[in-house]
Amino acid sequence: MKFRKSAPLKGAITVPGDKSISHRSVMLGAISKGTTSITNFLEGADCLSTIDCFRKMGIEIDRKPEEILIHGKGLHGLQAPSDILDVGNSGTTVRLLSGILAGQTFQSTLTGDDSIQKRPMKRIITPLTAMGGEIKSIRDNDCVPLQIQGRLLKGIHYDSPVSSAQVKSCILLAGLYADGPTSVTEPYLSRNHSELMLRSFGASVTSKDTTVTIQPEPELTGQKVVVPGDISSAAYFIAAGLLVPDSEILIKNVGTNPTRDGILRVCRQMGADIQLLDPREHCQEPAADILVRSSSLKGTQIQGELIPTLIDELPVIAVMAAFAEGTTVIRDAQELKVKESNRLDIMVHHLQAMGADVTPTEDGMIIRGGAPLHGASLDSHLDHRIAMSFAVAGLAADGETEITRADCVNISYPDFYKDLLSLQP
Ligand code: S3P
Repeated sequence: MKFRKSAPLKGAITVPGDKSISHRSVMLGAISKGTTSITNFLEGADCLSTIDCFRKMGIEIDRKPEEILIHGKGLHGLQAPSDILDVGNSGTTVRLLSGILAGQTFQSTLTGDDSIQKRPMKRIITPLTAMGGEIKSIRDNDCVPLQIQGRLLKGIHYDSPVSSAQVKSCILLAGLYADGPTSVTEPYLSRNHSELMLRSFGASVTSKDTTVTIQPEPELTGQKVVVPGDISSAAYFIAAGLLVPDSEILIKNVGTNPTRDGILRVCRQMGADIQLLDPREHCQEPAADILVRSSSLKGTQIQGELIPTLIDELPVIAVMAAFAEGTTVIRDAQELKVKESNRLDIMVHHLQAMGADVTPTEDGMIIRGGAPLHGASLDSHLDHRIAMSFAVAGLAADGETEITRADCVNISYPDFYKDLLSLQP
């Protein structure tokens, strides 16, 4: 894909459904009694991997144009999979599903693509093992493939060294199958979609500060889930609207859960003109329309408890920082090294290739913004968020920016390029 400096972006856009909420709705639907209906489900490759895994465990799933129906079989209704469970590129699928599989009565094997085979799984192997689970990295490298022998689990308290919703959710899902309450404390609060959805399906989940506790063996009941638009997908339109002069974009129906809205807070710190219109709620998840107008941005500091609330948006935030006046410092973001790619290294490399003044640090980067950026040929490293972030950079830089292996956006936003181009005159 090739991008050039853009004319003003104008119009309204509806981004696809939230990826995290879409995954969770399939998983909880499968282990509940009755039918779960999901509207605005994200039909990206990651969520389709989750559907595929549950179909292999005997769950009937109807994909209709307007709605997904999950015919749940209850907490103990999954069947031993007929085949290896392939999670593709999806960290959420492998980590959350492992929590469910640890509490079954059968053995299963999980694997995925080249990227997922390098991502750390010790972070779930350690707590699941402490619960009495039997989970083994087949190549003994703490990565997938994982072999999981289901067991009766014990409730534990786990002090997580990382603020990770995937780790937290894995333990909570395993806690459904434990012999007593299970709790997790994380350093800073990560996204809380699992807690909200588990409660609405009938689980007893309590949260206090950064600790969440779940009681075992509830009767989960299928629900009607309406998925809000994904703020992580909206982030690219927020950035494009702010950076391309004279733009005005209305992004409709975006999830604004406070554990996910760090990008809005950072944009405001940077002086962005952003308004939230018509706030509403779908299934306890807040949503709003977001109106973005081009703004001159200034540098800022991003660290600490803000990081988990914008973890997937840091690549595009770094792009915004490169166009902002002054210095932006990103700290406490070492988790970016273990995402779909090493996002810290790739962001620094690609921004430098476009002429930005960026210095990498141990846990983030320092971006001295304001110098004009020029186009470059940049590889996505098969990371959807890298491809989309640099497509946006290409709309604001001089000359031509080429993104190679650009179709990895299928993971979370199959129509991304079409939607982006629809805002151009
Ligand atoms: C996710 C949690 C985050 C995020 C990922 C989706 C989730 O990962 O980066 O894209 O759905 O729980 P971590 O839990 O590893 O931070």
